[in-house]
Amino acid sequence: MDMVNLICSKRDGRELTAAEIDWVINAYVAGTVADEQVAALLMAVFWRGLSVAELSRWTAAIIASGERMDLSGLSRPTVDKHSTGGVGDKVSLILAPLVAACGAAVPQLSGRGLGHTGGTLDKLEAIPGWRSELSNSEMLAQLEEIGCVICAAGAGLAPADRKLYALRDVTGTVESIPLIAGSIMSKKIAEGTQSLVLDVKVGSGAFMADRDRATELARTMVRLGRDHGLKVTALLSTMDTPLGRAVGNALEVAEAVEVLSGRDDSPDLVELTLALAREMLELAGIQADPSVALRNGSALERYRAMVVAQGGDPDATLPRAAHIELVTADQTGIVGRLDARAVGVAAWRLGAGRARKEDAVSASAGVVCRIKPGEKVTEGQALLELHTDQSERLDWAREALKDAIAIGDQPPAPTSVVLEVIS
Ligand code: URA
Repeated sequence: MDMVNLICSKRDGRELTAAEIDWVINAYVAGTVADEQVAALLMAVFWRGLSVAELSRWTAAIIASGERMDLSGLSRPTVDKHSTGGVGDKVSLILAPLVAACGAAVPQLSGRGLGHTGGTLDKLEAIPGWRSELSNSEMLAQLEEIGCVICAAGAGLAPADRKLYALRDVTGTVESIPLIAGSIMSKKIAEGTQSLVLDVKVGSGAFMADRDRATELARTMVRLGRDHGLKVTALLSTMDTPLGRAVGNALEVAEAVEVLSGRDDSPDLVELTLALAREMLELAGIQADPSVALRNGSALERYRAMVVAQGGDPDATLPRAAHIELVTADQTGIVGRLDARAVGVAAWRLGAGRARKEDAVSASAGVVCRIKPGEKVTEGQALLELHTDQSERLDWAREALKDAIAIGDQPPAPTSVVLEVIS
């Protein structure tokens, strides 16, 4: 193969052949084609896109670069969820044990956060003793016994994606719908789940602020999954304001446990979790009402078992920040807006997130939203709590929140968290 020729083909809008796609992915993993040439190809894909056939083969080649897990020996149907990421999105912590309590096996191979959205592993690592690294046999045993596992994806799963994603990150080629779809779906298909529900977020705090692009991404991923034999449904959900009330690792674990304990101070979080659970159970062919498992304690019991199985102590006191300051209302009225991105950036500046993959995160840092859009407030009332271990970060976080909250005399138009189901 001639790499320059291949780049020029895509640059000029010609469809790549299956053999060309297989070759370039294999050669990149093997290190026999240079970063700059693959970067040029990625940029050509960014502008020209990939056809349905090209994307299917691209994804297959990424999957074939590593192992594909076999979960077929489990006695329960397998179903997973993937979220494109949002602010305060602790759904996985509630959803995996909830769906397990209803009879499915949920193999959640998760990642860490980068930028203003948090990662599920970072959140669970706030629990003393909890470990994210499991061997394949530990994961299978836990899935059979408890029905859910949330752990780090092993290095053997879709290694080509890891390399391609790192290159996209530094070459301005992340925001390409086929490249995002191939990246996400290759990992989910390699994980071996039979079915998958996607939570594609739209709004200021989401990866995609534009609804049309989010819909296109959802449709592309649903089709790609089906081409590879998975049952897939996507939910489009709003991410204009943080999900629930807590943003930050330990703070989100605490809120997830509150919801699992039946305390319902986070109606948007409960609504989205139940909507996702219903879709997951339908794909898994299980007839059960997940709201019952949330109320009767069985989901909480699975959560506790999952944490214990991974070395964590579900009764341990969670880390608490050394400094907690309040953001107060400068007028009386109704909260019309609480911007998700601004709150996410503030939590990140307080220490909850990382700027580079190798950075450590603070377990205790973050923001608690004491109010949500639509609620009445009086001048001087506390709106947000800022939690951090490093007081010098507080001014920086306040700056991110400068225009985050709008208070007026009209409530915002009522919206549902779930905007659309794409199946
Ligand atoms: N998440 C992924 O795993 N891949 C992308 O390309 C974007 C988000």
